[in-house]
Amino acid sequence: MTGRLFGILAVLIGSVFVAPGAMAADDLTASSPLVKGCEGCHGARGDSQKPEVPRLNGQKSDYILIRLKEFRDPSRKQPHASPMTRNAAASSNSDSVALAQYFSRQTPTPRSASGIESQAGAEIFLHGADPATPACAICHGPDGDGLGGTPRIAGQHRTYLMQQLADFNFAGRPGTVMNRHTWDMTQQQMVELAAYLSNN
Ligand code: HEC
Ligand code: HEC
Repeated sequence: MTGRLFGILAVLIGSVFVAPGAMAADDLTASSPLVKGCEGCHGARGDSQKPEVPRLNGQKSDYILIRLKEFRDPSRKQPHASPMTRNAAASSNSDSVALAQYFSRQTPTPRSASGIESQAGAEIFLHGADPATPACAICHGPDGDGLGGTPRIAGQHRTYLMQQLADFNFAGRPGTVMNRHTWDMTQQQMVELAAYLSNN
């Protein structure tokens, strides 16, 4: 009886904290118009088939939210994100949360590493490289799955990964820890890392 009372109380209290009109994250499904708007570019369930459009399936919801906020802020220089700026601007905050949760729930695409370059990439990923490239696994996790605001990078498109590393390197994507992690990275090391992490 007490347990049941607690249950009812919990439901009542829970409902007080849901902002009026806010969409519950679980409301979004593959058939929601909001989701379809994204999947036109990002692919069914976020499993993008275009090499320059990042996969969102299994991406960390915290990270997706950070990126959507960045795209929405017109003061940030993100010329490479122009198709996104328009889309993110159209979404309200509660929509962003619901979208982030929808995509993070989708089954992630695994890495498909092969070849010599990928072995060299594994070495950098796990142990870093001289003079100043840290082991990616420290932050992105031993399998590249990401954690919280640190993105999943395993199973991402090779072209997209290469582009991001190059952008971090010349600060075309500014203001992140990744800028200093890529300062000393050579083009060859980027190729090796992308070979190890990606799935095309
Ligand atoms: C017109 C095509 C297009 C549409 C529609 C679109 N996106 Fe994107 N999105 C892109 C491209 C291209 C990028 C890569 C931008 C870059 O390189 O900075 C991107 C990047 C992102 C990123 C960053 C991913 C990462 O790994 O850093 C997120 C998150 C994202 N989109 C979410 C969404 C959501 C949510 C929607 C729907 C509201 C959406 N996108 C609609 C093209 C699109
Ligand atoms: C100190 C922690 C840390 C280390 C070490 C680190 N990263 Fe990151 N990485 C981050 C964070 C945080 C972000 C999100 C940056 C942002 O957009 O604000 C990120 C973003 C990225 C992205 C962009 C992903 C996307 O979807 O757009 C790539 C690619 C990446 N890192 C690759 C690497 C590689 C390769 C290494 C190893 C050489 C590495 N990172 C080491 C913390 C780290």
